[in-house]
Amino acid sequence: MKKELADLINNQVNFEIYSAHIYLNMACYCGAEGLEGFRNWMNIQYQEEMSHANKLIDYLLDNGYTPKITNWEESPGTDYTNILEVAQISLMHEKVVTERFNYMMTKAHELGDYATINLLNWFIDEQVEEEASFEAMIQKINMVKDAGLYLLDQEYGARTFVDNTKE
Ligand code: FEO
Repeated sequence: MKKELADLINNQVNFEIYSAHIYLNMACYCGAEGLEGFRNWMNIQYQEEMSHANKLIDYLLDNGYTPKITNWEESPGTDYTNILEVAQISLMHEKVVTERFNYMMTKAHELGDYATINLLNWFIDEQVEEEASFEAMIQKINMVKDAGLYLLDQEYGARTFVDNTKE
C-alpha cells in the first residue's frame, strides 16, 4: 500500500477515536439529563466508533504499516442545549466522516489500490447507515415533540368557562 494512502487511513483511525470521544461525552450529557435510553444508545455509538478505529488499525497492520495513535483535538464537552441539538450535531459530524471516506476512496482509485477500495466500500456503506440513523433520531425527536404539544393542546382545549363572579 502506498504511504500516502496509509497515512490517510491512519489519520482516520485518530478521527474515529475522536468521534468515539464525542459520543461518549454525549452519553455523559444524556446520563446527566436522566435520559438513560439515549445514554445507552450513545454508549453503543462510542463502542462502534472504537470498532471502526480497530478495523482500520487491523488493515494497516495487515499491510505492514504501524499505525500511530495521536490526539485529534479536544472533543466538544457535554455542553448541549437539548437532545435534539445532540442529534443534529451528530448528523453534521457523520457528514464530515462521509466526506473523509469519499476523499480516501478517490485517492484509492487514483492509486489503483483495489484492496483498499474494498475496505473503503465497507465504510462508505456504513456511513449511509450512520447518517440515516441520526436523520431518523432527529425525525423521531421532532415527532415526539409535536406529540407532546398535541397532548398539551388537548389539555388546554378541555378548559371550560366557569363564571366565578357568581360564586
Ligand atoms: Fe465511524 Fe460514525 O463513523
